Amino acid sequence: MIDVTHDPLPALRDRLATSHKGDYGRALVVGGSLGMAGAPALAGMACLRSGAGLVSVATPRCVQATVASFCAAYMTQPLADDGERLVDKAGQAVAKLLEDADAAAIGPGLGRSDAINSLVGAMWTLPTPMVVDADALNSLALMGSSRAAPAGPRVLTPHAGEFARLSGSPLSDPNHPEERRDRTAELVQSLGGDQTVVLLKGAHTIITDGDRYAVNATGNPGMATGGTGDVLTGVITALLAQGLDAFAAARLAAHVHGLAGDLAAAKLGVIALTATDLLDYLPEAWNQTT
Ligand code: APR
Ligand code: MG
Repeated sequence: MIDVTHDPLPALRDRLATSHKGDYGRALVVGGSLGMAGAPALAGMACLRSGAGLVSVATPRCVQATVASFCAAYMTQPLADDGERLVDKAGQAVAKLLEDADAAAIGPGLGRSDAINSLVGAMWTLPTPMVVDADALNSLALMGSSRAAPAGPRVLTPHAGEFARLSGSPLSDPNHPEERRDRTAELVQSLGGDQTVVLLKGAHTIITDGDRYAVNATGNPGMATGGTGDVLTGVITALLAQGLDAFAAARLAAHVHGLAGDLAAAKLGVIALTATDLLDYLPEAWNQTT
């Protein structure tokens, strides 16, 4: 494996004066459930703050109004909130929404049920570039070896606990650099696919596609607070929607997300920092990155 940690970061294209929103991609976030309406909202807002042209959040009908109320700049789409019907009715609807999306995210605040496992299984086999996070990773773990290879670019974003479930065993030391590198590369191999990337979160987030790896240098312990991972998911999705490949999107997103955290911590301190602060500092992080 090649260590590309010190290679120049990938970059977004310059925005032409004549460009329009269609040039920056349509992103779809699938997530949310009763009690977890904030997670897909954080991802959707981070997606907008990272340059996606159009953002839509598909979320169960019971929380749609709540999710919509967090942000005026994204659209929302209803999923059936009766778990039984999630796949038959809404699953078809999600497949249709995905056809219209340049990139998608699945997982933030989605919850756990058999219907959600089926929904994640159905989405896994579609070609749309996709970030797979949070509860969707747990569904994927349950599929085990019966899981097909993904049909399009994928970025999986587990924390150490989700990584343990997905790979079948915990890291013996979640902070050991070589173990993080080797275990994430093994997971990429076992998942299959042409453009599969695993981003293992933590103090030294690692990103690998099995041939290359990079260790992210930004971020701080103030980010150890609920919802910061949902923000990362939104940033990666925006970069996929803008045409970056899975490895480039994951690497650039990890850098900018951690930098937003560092800028926020410099001003607010590590104790008070919240996930919504990351949204507020993403603009400055992008200004310092591009
Ligand atoms: N140093 C640097 N970065 C850190 C640190 C640290 N000490 N601690 C956390 N972070 C970063 C991680 O790298 C990651 O980008 O903060 C983010 C935390 O992401 P998650 O662990 O996914 O946390 P969260 O957003 O609360 O997840 C929401 O999804 O993963 C599930 O179980 C989780 O249900 C919860 C939901
Ligand atoms: Mg998370």
